[in-house]
Formats: sequence, structure tokens, C-alpha cells
Amino acid sequence: MNKPTDLARIPVDHDDIDTNVSSNEHFSTVLEARLSRRSLLRGGAATAASALLGAIGLSGCGGSDNDVVTAPTPPVTSNPPPTEKLLAFGAVSKSLADTVVVPAGYTASVLYALGDPLTANTAAYKNDGTDGDFENRAGDHHDGMEFFPLSATGGASTSVSDRGLLAMNHEATTDEKLSSFFVHANGGTMTLPRPALEVDKEMALHGLSVVEVRQSGGKWAYQKDSSFNRRVHQQTEVEISGPVRGNALVVTKYSTNGTKIRGTLNNCGTGKTPWNTYLSGEENWAGYFTRAAGDDAARADKSVVSLNRYGRSQGASSRHGWETGGLDDKYQRWNISKSGASSDGSDDYRNEMNGMGYIVEMDAYDKTKSIKKRTALGRFAHESAVFGKPVAGQPLAVYMGDDSRNEYIFKFVSNAVWSASDATAADRIATGDKYLDSGKLYVAKFAADGSGQWIELSISNPAIAAYAGYKFADQADVLVNARLAGDAVGATKMDRPEWCSVHPGTGEIYFTLTNNSNRRVEPSSASQAAPDAVNPRVYTDMKGTSAQVGNPNGHIIRVKEGSAGSTATGFTWDVYLFGAESGAPAGTVNLSGLTADQDFSSPDGLAFSASTGICWIQTDDGAYTDVTNCMMLAGVPGRVGDGKKVTLNYPRANGSTLSVDTYVGLAATTDTLKRFLVGPVGSEITGIAETPDGKALFVNIQHPGETTAASSIADPSKYTSQWPANAGYGAGKRPRSATIVITKNDGGRIGT
Ligand code: FEO
Ligand code: CA
Ligand code: CA
Repeated sequence: MNKPTDLARIPVDHDDIDTNVSSNEHFSTVLEARLSRRSLLRGGAATAASALLGAIGLSGCGGSDNDVVTAPTPPVTSNPPPTEKLLAFGAVSKSLADTVVVPAGYTASVLYALGDPLTANTAAYKNDGTDGDFENRAGDHHDGMEFFPLSATGGASTSVSDRGLLAMNHEATTDEKLSSFFVHANGGTMTLPRPALEVDKEMALHGLSVVEVRQSGGKWAYQKDSSFNRRVHQQTEVEISGPVRGNALVVTKYSTNGTKIRGTLNNCGTGKTPWNTYLSGEENWAGYFTRAAGDDAARADKSVVSLNRYGRSQGASSRHGWETGGLDDKYQRWNISKSGASSDGSDDYRNEMNGMGYIVEMDAYDKTKSIKKRTALGRFAHESAVFGKPVAGQPLAVYMGDDSRNEYIFKFVSNAVWSASDATAADRIATGDKYLDSGKLYVAKFAADGSGQWIELSISNPAIAAYAGYKFADQADVLVNARLAGDAVGATKMDRPEWCSVHPGTGEIYFTLTNNSNRRVEPSSASQAAPDAVNPRVYTDMKGTSAQVGNPNGHIIRVKEGSAGSTATGFTWDVYLFGAESGAPAGTVNLSGLTADQDFSSPDGLAFSASTGICWIQTDDGAYTDVTNCMMLAGVPGRVGDGKKVTLNYPRANGSTLSVDTYVGLAATTDTLKRFLVGPVGSEITGIAETPDGKALFVNIQHPGETTAASSIADPSKYTSQWPANAGYGAGKRPRSATIVITKNDGGRIGT
């Protein structure tokens, strides 16, 4: 009912899984703010140098007595901080056009799209559903992405800006009723069983790719025949590394000693290590598995608790029905029902799902090196994995979010301390072994007074060891079931944590919280959560005549570690920006004062430029899409504590009031936040990478035309998008996910 006017259909949102019914406390108690808040950013145009310094240079007022003022740290960049004015471009208007819009003075070109061949011998993509050989083509749903510079001799570099490798995630496919309909000639088979050839194609479209790109004469092109080009898909062998390696929880018919698995799945956010490797987060992998009705009784053990918590209750059907492709093991592995007679799972795939849900490390420069699942970083619906600023002699910190409604934020701290010489280590995967296979995993608990704690998820923590909800066997069990461990210690339920990124000047950590339709003033079910200080908004946003409730527009928080830096167990936080329509009520919804030049909904991708310090914000939205397609904005943030305390008062049914304090950063102005890009119809904007000189920005356009009905496959005029064909790229009219490259016509840095 009340179908939004711009949608031919509403695609199933595979992100909208909620399985957290734990009874963690919420922070509805009104406490006096402990932190003194002051304005550091006193207006005026930011420059790149001030952006990198967290705008500290614009501080115009004295600190109050209990302010902790941290000296600005030097920017992490190989370039001198540029002094040109940031955000000097004209803001891009909201748009419903089927095109990529960038500011005047910029050019956006399509570089690498779904199906593009990755070897000299692979045929050009016909884009009519008849193409095969996807193991040698670009995968689908381009997502997180990193740029790895290549030297003239083809070696790893950190400075070259006209040649490099783009490593990227291929998260999913555009589907309806089981079938990835744009890649099959007639839209594919929408009932079970699925034909093997369709399943093979769909499995190959998921995973990772590495593609070489070069700039010559100002034009970027991908190199079809580069020996660096690579695909990782669902038949690629991947090692299980870290504390879970060899554990009983990952024993399968394929790996009876629990050391390997095939593939990496539903890869979303990314990260780049200080030693120049690629990190990929496995996000909504649970939906690809099927589990038979009656499997609870067949198992009759604690694995049922784990499966339910991770989204596979008995009777759950799979997203694509890959398990019906045939009797071959490569299909049967998607059925995780207990079917074998063994006691350890070595004769079936009852444990297969425990091999998904990790941060995966790949050396983009070297195909001969194993790809490894870094299990020490925990198992959940991973997004990006971002390092705090490395300090020689100190452990490394990696920040991560779990993207489902009411899930948690995590930090991994390495046991090994950082040695700067490892930045150029010859064996990068061995360096990954050193820093990412042993350490401590923490979960975040936010307090109402603007502080917070990192709580270690350790089997020796009594709250975990004695948890009534699940009996953890060992530390590997804690990592595989990190959500349950978070439940045990009372972690804070968040509004769907997506990407995080670290401000190169201040070192503060920013997390997007994309939205949450299960936030309620008075929760009426276990899957709903009440507003708290860090997830403070509950409101209604109308989309046409359809009411969207909870926190439909999302927000962005930031965390400042305590004085111990990477190993701190205490932090302070505030909300950098609240997503909102510019016309929404200022006192309760549009708390960041967004105007038409910068209003947005559902922040998802987030990354700071190491060159300019700009905070790029990308949206994956379904709330504001009656007015605008998804977008990318450029921000120049200040720092934690630069805004003010706000109290939100919610009437309860019994006439009393729920008061929630929160801390909102400095209100946005066009000097500090501006819309830079709007994408084609039905797309989300995700994935961002830049050349070291900051003059080329790579951005992914994911699932244009997602709102097309599969029944329209034979009639291109009914596709809701024909991008990028309508931008002159490639054959056919079916919409394709693609990487674009953005350059400035005067050759300057992007965002100036
Ligand atoms: Fe794949 Fe949470 O976005
Ligand atoms: Ca609206
Ligand atoms: Ca995402």
C-alpha cells in the first residue's frame, strides 16, 4: 500500500535483518553532561590545512576548566597540506535524473562496469543476459574500494598517482524472487530449483576484483589485459586465520580440520592496512544459506542459539536458492542443516556459516599470496575496518561496525606493537599475520554523559564466561559469536553501524549510523530499542503518504579515544551530523541545521581524504528517494565537543515524558558541508578511493535501476535506469553497477 511514486517496486532490503532481542540496558536516564562543550569552529572558510588539523586553527574561544584539549597531530599524507579553499564548488542540487551529477568544473567518467572483461581473451560484455565467464569479468554491485599505486616497474608504491590497482568488493546482485534478473537472458528462474548455470553465474558475480587503471593525457582507463587483474568469487579458496583457525566451530566436509573455506561473500565496506593490503568486510552473508525446518531438533545443541542470533532460524530459506543448483558440493554447501551422521560436522555443512562474517585480507599486488579471514576481529555483519593512526611502539587499533538494526560497534587492538618499517614489508600477508591474528576485541558501550567504554570480549570476563544466554567454550567461540558476547556485556544497540573512518588530523573516529526503523519511545517488542543519548531520535518522516518511523534518516557519530590512544578503554563522543530533510523540524529532527545545499538521509559510506582532509559521505537511502537519488557530500568537520548539548523530550502514552540528552556537533554551513554528487535512479553511492595526489577520485555507483520489476526485463523502456549505457558506456540498455572516476577540469584536487 501507499507505494512511493518513484518506485516501480520496493526491492527487498537485505540489510534489514534484526536479530538482537537481548535485554541490554538503554540510556534513557537524564544525567548532567560531564563534558564541557565549546565551539572550536568559528565560521570562515576552511582550507585543506585546517581540515587536516580538525579546524583547530580556527579556534576562537578559551577552554573552560574541565576541557581536555588535545594538540593537533600531524596529517597522514605524503603531500604538503594544500592551502586551497575547500568546498569552493557550487553545491549540486537534489536530483531524480538518471545520470551522475557533479559540480560545474568537474568531470565524472565511467571506468569499470559489471561484466567488463578482465583478460585479453574474454569477450566484450554484451549486456543482454547471455554473457558467461564471470570468473574473468567484473563482478556485480561494486561496493567498497581502495587504490593501490603501482610503480613504473609494477611494484607496490604509496605515491604514484597515474597508475594503480583498484581492489573492490562485489557485494551482491540486483534480484527479485531468487533470481539476479539483469544477468539472465529472460530474467532467470524465479522458482526452485534454480538451474546450475544460473547459480554458477550468480556465485561468480559475488566476491572481489582487482583491476589495473591508468591515466594518460588526463584520461583514465582500465587495463583489460593487465596481469594484476584478478577475481575472487565463491570457488576461490580462502584461509581461516587467527584464533578460530582449526576450531571445531569451522569444521566442514570441505575442511575437516577447520582451516579453509571457499569464497568471501556479501563484501561491503573496506579498509587499507598500514602495510598496504586490502581489507574487505563480509556483511549480509547469512541470507545466502538455507536451514531446514526441524533442524533445531536435529542439532539439539547450543549452535541453535548462535544460528538464531545470526539470522538463520530453522526453516529460513536462502536469498537465491543456490543449494538447489545440483548435488555438487559447491551447491550443497549453502544448505547448513545438519544432515550427516558425524558428531563434528566433517560430513556436512552444518558449520559452513561460521566461516563467513569476517574481515578478509588480500594482497592486491600479489596473486600468489593466500587470502585470509582475520578471525581475531570477530564475526558479525562487517562494514569497513579502519586503523587508528599508527604510532611506533604502540599496538594498532582497528575500528568496525556491525550493520544490522540495534547491533554494535567494535575495536580490535593488536598484541604486536607498530614498527614503522613494516609499512614497506616485502611479505605483506605475513605482516598481516603479525598484527591481525592476535589481539583483543572490544565492544562499545556509550553513556548518557558523553563518555563511553570499550569492554573487552574475553572468555575470562565473568559476564561472558557465566552468560546465561550462551555457553562459550573458548575465546574462538567468543569471536565466532561476537554478537552474543556483546549481548553478555551490555553493549549499546546502535542505529545500524555502517562505515567508519579516522580523521587524519584529529585521529577521531567517525561512524555512520544509517537508519533504524526499530527505534521507539516505548518499545513494544524485543527487537525494538528506546532512544538513548547516542541514538537519540525517534520521529516520523513522510515519503509521499507512507509514514517512516524510528530514525529513518540516520546520523554520524564520532569518538575521541582517551589519553592511552589505541589501547584506551574510555572515550568521549558526540554526533557529528544528523541526517534530515532541510524542512524537518529544527529542534527535534534537523538538529544539524541542514539546508537544501546539504540535506541528506541514510549515510553509509564514509572516508576521509588523506590529501585534503575532506570527509566524504555517501548515502544508501530509501527514505528521501521521493525527492532525490542517493548522493555524496563533502564535509569539513571540527572535532568532538565543538557543538552543544540538546535535550529531546518524548511524550509517553501514560502522560509522562522521556527526556534524552544528546551532544550535537557544530551546525552545518556551506563552508563545512556541501552536496558534491547525485547518482542515477535506484542507485546507492558507495566505495571511495583517491590517488595519492588527491586529483582523481574513484566512486562506485551500485545497483542503478534496482527498482525495476523483473517482469519488465524484455522492455528496456520500463527499466527505471539505463545507466551507464545512457552515459555512452557499453552495449545494451540494462543498468550496470560501475566505478566512475572524477577529475577536476583545472587539474586540481577534488573537493576544492
Ligand atoms: Fe552493504 Fe551496510 O551496506
Ligand atoms: Ca520525506
Ligand atoms: Ca554499505
